[in-house]
Amino acid sequence: MADGERIDPWSSEQSTDYARIRDQFGLEGVDVSRLPNPGMLHRRGIVFAHRDLDVVLGCIERSDPFGVLTGLMPSGRMHLGHSMVIDQVRWFQQQGADITVTVADLEALATRGTSLAEGRENAINEYVHNYAALGLDPSNTNVYFQSGRPAVQRLAFTLGRRTNLSEFEAIYGFRGDTNLAHVQAPLVQAGDIIHPQLEEYGGLRPIVVPVGVDQDPHLRLTRGIAGKTHWFNVKPRKAGGLTVALSVQNDNAELFGVAPNGRVDRDTREEIFQRLKNSLAPMGYADFVANPKHGTLDIPGANLSDAGQVRMCVLALEREMGGMGLMPPCSTYHRFAVGMTGDKMSSSKPQTTIFMDDSIEEMSKKVKRAFSGGQPTVEEHRRLGGDCSKDVAFQYLQFFFEPDDSELARIAREYESGRMLAGEIKQICIDRASEWLTDLSEKRDMWEGRLDEFLAADAL
Ligand code: TRP
Repeated sequence: MADGERIDPWSSEQSTDYARIRDQFGLEGVDVSRLPNPGMLHRRGIVFAHRDLDVVLGCIERSDPFGVLTGLMPSGRMHLGHSMVIDQVRWFQQQGADITVTVADLEALATRGTSLAEGRENAINEYVHNYAALGLDPSNTNVYFQSGRPAVQRLAFTLGRRTNLSEFEAIYGFRGDTNLAHVQAPLVQAGDIIHPQLEEYGGLRPIVVPVGVDQDPHLRLTRGIAGKTHWFNVKPRKAGGLTVALSVQNDNAELFGVAPNGRVDRDTREEIFQRLKNSLAPMGYADFVANPKHGTLDIPGANLSDAGQVRMCVLALEREMGGMGLMPPCSTYHRFAVGMTGDKMSSSKPQTTIFMDDSIEEMSKKVKRAFSGGQPTVEEHRRLGGDCSKDVAFQYLQFFFEPDDSELARIAREYESGRMLAGEIKQICIDRASEWLTDLSEKRDMWEGRLDEFLAADAL
């Protein structure tokens, strides 16, 4: 694969060719009409793709438990770009999710040289403080540190057995001179993403990870690894319905009745199928077609959309039998907001973004200098109108500061018709952003000294 076709999660240069990314990596488009109470980022097409979101939507519909996992790098300051994920986390929480927040202090130590003590200080005072102000509910939010949760590190090791350097080469483009910190970090991140399903962290349930597309390689890796651990594979059946296929591996061969010489014990296999059918009983299917020789159980009456629930049933059985029983993580992807200067947003270039604790003066200065979609002269602007697709002030209203869709549409109409000038749209952006930042800062004050409420017991 050519370098340009890979996604590098450590690079600040990200492709914004979202249609290509979606097709190349097999992401699905988001159908907003299927979302309950869609948020602003959904309605505006900013959350543009997903993997297996249907599984989560099913949980919301049935009020079944599901969780969200998100992670933060505890280095640098929190800016608007980071707040987009928290917006989605809050939305999922409002739909019934429990929330786990990873402080990637080991990753920051390994890839950026941030000490664990610095990472802790920064994570709590900079990130968790703003998450609280942005409205996360502490009652079912658990912030933990990678360095303080051995279960995550253990998983990184166990899951590492299911991948190899060739896969890392294919996904990340690693070569002989790749720093090994970049080999460790994705395995720990896979541990982060999987571990909320462990019994002591909430047990088997779907976990959704909202991210920017830069993090998709980690999700592909984790989903692949989870798939390789499965004792039962659920797939569409050619003649309609679903098929559950046994996946015989070292750790289950004996249980599945496969002798070292490859011979299959009929009775044991019969018993496995019986257990499979029992575990699927809650789904209420009338008939099953077992093919013990192939190790498959067909469910002709299943709908393709049942796949998530069927998978949950067979994963529960896998756990009962001694397997890991890991649901592959679901994910959503948001577009990146443009930097204020018109190029990429980057925390190392403060003029390209607005930080959560920027003063009104700092913010105003950035918006005034922001890249404009206006015409060079007032005369031309009145005649040709402004270009919202290039105008940074407009886009910041759209991504962050103007929650009212009809007001946003009115601003777009005024600007594109030339009735509203570039200076005027910037002023609207400054006004809205001032309210937003002031409100956030007041909420931060309210949470001062109470951030422990968000920390998991092992993070206190
Ligand atoms: N790698 C992420 C980043 O660079 C941080 C992170 C660690 C993370 N673990 C995670 C993000 C799990 C999402 C899910 O920002």
